[in-house]
Amino acid sequence: MQSTVQAAAPVQSNAAGIVWLKLSVLYLIVGVAMGIAMGASHNFTLRPVHAHVNLLGWTTLALAGLIYSVFPVAGASKLAKAHFWLLNLALPVMMLALAMMLMGNTAVLPAMVVAEFMAAAGVLAFAANLFLNLKR
Ligand code: HEM
Repeated sequence: MQSTVQAAAPVQSNAAGIVWLKLSVLYLIVGVAMGIAMGASHNFTLRPVHAHVNLLGWTTLALAGLIYSVFPVAGASKLAKAHFWLLNLALPVMMLALAMMLMGNTAVLPAMVVAEFMAAAGVLAFAANLFLNLKR
């Protein structure tokens, strides 16, 4: 007797969020490693970098990935592309510059300011995207 039950195709729907989620978990690895290193060394100089890698990197990127997976129209929009590139180009620069500032290199301040404004512009693109492209 032939079975009529077919194996479900693997669901990889809504590709928009996947790259966000993969990047977010890389930030989680870095953030957790920094936390362990700070705890082990009792050197908390880079605490703000740890916090931002975890919150702006892991948490914010993962939330964007989940939101774009649930709302693929928003995930595929031009605003989502702007959000992606602004935030993901800015964030590594911001984290590196912040780490260098905390270690006493104030020359990187202009780079940090530019990266901060880019990240903020990315957040505004995200907000505009959700307001314009999330429909009931
Ligand atoms: C195994 C994982 C982690 C370890 C070992 C770790 C370790 C640490 C340590 C040692 C500190 C400094 C505590 C102090 O100054 O007394 C800290 C601060 C902090 N961590 Fe983590 N952490 C981890 C994961 C996370 C995650 C996942 C997040 C957020 C999603 C996070 C957010 C923060 C924040 C917001 C602070 C405070 C920063 C500040 O006061 O400037 N951490 N963590």
